Amino acid sequence: MTVGVYPGSFDPFTVGHLDVLTNAAGLFDLVYVAVLHNVDKRPTFTVDERMDMIRNVLVAEKLDNVRCGTFDGLLVDYARAVNATHIVRGLRATSDFEYEFQIDAVNRHLDNSLRTVYFMASPGHSFLSSSNVKEIGLWGGSIRGLVPSVNEEIICERLAKK
Ligand code: PNS
Repeated sequence: MTVGVYPGSFDPFTVGHLDVLTNAAGLFDLVYVAVLHNVDKRPTFTVDERMDMIRNVLVAEKLDNVRCGTFDGLLVDYARAVNATHIVRGLRATSDFEYEFQIDAVNRHLDNSLRTVYFMASPGHSFLSSSNVKEIGLWGGSIRGLVPSVNEEIICERLAKK
């Protein structure tokens, strides 16, 4: 069985993330979405909120071969624990390349048996990031079409409280 891990902060999960995840679910028998639990990063949404929203998406999109988990510490340790052979990441613009290049080099240093596969963002998602979603939502702009519709209301309400 082929297993992939799609790691990230997902603060919050966007339609760009969903695009990457859908591609990964078509490539691997089983995919783990691994939500980073990093206290230093001071996320807007708690780990539980982020995981609940991702699980909403898995149900709504019928992504039956995807599980959602959380990890702290090293990604390679999480990947080994779930028997993954591949890490999945998305690439939007060339600005992502340098960052991804460095993460890949560190992960290969830590575990050279793991490989990362990258999916290019669909053209309409190349500008999209969790930070953009939060900025738009905080100022009362519409985030329709930027996040999975099943989570739109939750995200709007939560950002309005900040
Ligand atoms: O969505 P993000 O925040 O760009 O994801 C970054 C992530 C979670 C992939 C990266 O920070 C990570 O893997 N962190 C866990 C710690 C680790 O394994 N570090 C070594 C690789 S940089």
